[in-house]
Amino acid sequence: MVDRLKKLPSELKKILTIASRQATSSGVKIYLVGGVVRDLIKGKINFDLDIVVESDAIIFAREYANYLGGEFKKHHAFGTATVYLGEHKVDFATARRETYPRWGALPVVVPAALEDDLARRDFTINAMAVSLNKGDYGRCLDLYNGLSDLSKGLIRVLHKDSFLEDPTRILRAIRFEQRFSFKIEKNTFKLMREALGREALKFIHPHRLRNELVLILKEPKPRIYIGRIEKLINFSILDKTPPSKVLGGSIPVDKSIKLDREDFKLFLRIEKTVSFYQEKFKKLKEIEEWFVYLAAILVKLSEPEILQFVESFGLRKEHRVKMLSIKKNLSKIKRLNRELRPHAIYHFFQLLSFEAIVFFYAYYPEKKIRENIEYFLDKLVNVTLFVKGEDLKKLGMKPVNLYSKLLRRLLYVKLDDKLKTKQEEIRQAKVIFRKLKSREDRMMVPVVKTIDK
Ligand code: CTP
Repeated sequence: MVDRLKKLPSELKKILTIASRQATSSGVKIYLVGGVVRDLIKGKINFDLDIVVESDAIIFAREYANYLGGEFKKHHAFGTATVYLGEHKVDFATARRETYPRWGALPVVVPAALEDDLARRDFTINAMAVSLNKGDYGRCLDLYNGLSDLSKGLIRVLHKDSFLEDPTRILRAIRFEQRFSFKIEKNTFKLMREALGREALKFIHPHRLRNELVLILKEPKPRIYIGRIEKLINFSILDKTPPSKVLGGSIPVDKSIKLDREDFKLFLRIEKTVSFYQEKFKKLKEIEEWFVYLAAILVKLSEPEILQFVESFGLRKEHRVKMLSIKKNLSKIKRLNRELRPHAIYHFFQLLSFEAIVFFYAYYPEKKIRENIEYFLDKLVNVTLFVKGEDLKKLGMKPVNLYSKLLRRLLYVKLDDKLKTKQEEIRQAKVIFRKLKSREDRMMVPVVKTIDK
């Protein structure tokens, strides 16, 4: 492995050699572990470095961060710490043994030797370590034949209870299987089936399930992964989690999400739309692709069911709002299937997220809807006025509470391509102001009631 370590980009090499030197001087043993070792052997660079320390990782990481001037963050419960060095991130973990108080719960950890730390891991291909210690720097420790499984392309668990203890591994197995075009080894597949038969995915907190799902949706071409999940597990994993209050979830959603051919066609259209958006509109806001796919899965549910889903799966507030707005606007978008003035197109899309716009583009293949969306992204989304509130004040326009309405109307006139210069905007602003003012004045006229005596 020394050769492979040497081939790493210089900044990664520096990160490792400095850690190695520190380990020697403080008399502790450290190892590179997990996915980064797997990827190193596959010849792929992984910038997320995981280092196991056979001692207190928090103390080690703090000293390391101080030396390199990196940002330091500790996570006490697991004896781990992260050091951020520019674009790079190094996770340090105290070598540990894990016990599960019950299946699906977070493990209780105690410090242990490297061998114990490797024994607690998910798959053989992820259970290798590379020594970063003086004397055997670069030696690969492969206690579970990970190298052989990697060359055969097999995903294999280390022991028979692996999926029950940590059911997120069911989704991880699918993720690695699809990402690397590997096979889930026969006995491992049987154990996975057995765990699914025992509804193991319901043992875990929905937030952990969400994290795994999001990781899957972040892979390139998630529709392939979704297809595999649909085949092996089906998306009922999402509908009735969790069964118990102990896990902190809410009442289960009582509807199965069954994906069909139409959904998979939609996933394919999303894939194309996302590349189209990234190519043609790269100057606009970057979108969270995973969210667009999640929307495609959830849009089949009713609004209350979506609400229940986003709450029990602990989606961030911003994502909850975006998800519900997609559902609420889904049928309204059909009205865009016609010729519209620019300001009307703008009015439709201005409050929607870019994820929602990409989703609607993929959802509706109708030519006119797509043209309107493209027109919005291409020509309208970044139009702004020269005139600001300050200008209106200087013109002596009162009261100020008319400004937001005035500026919106002014923008709409501009969007319809009627205003080019600031002077033109000011002229138009005066016209709009007069109209708004006289309407307001009319509404202010007191209504005189005649009282019958
Ligand atoms: N791990 C595990 N069980 C899990 C999650 C992680 O045993 N449920 C171990 C594996 O050894 C894994 C390592 O922790 O390799 C790091 O986890 P993570 O960063 O989630 O995965 P990677 O294997 O690095 O995968 P990726 O390439 O997707 O980052």
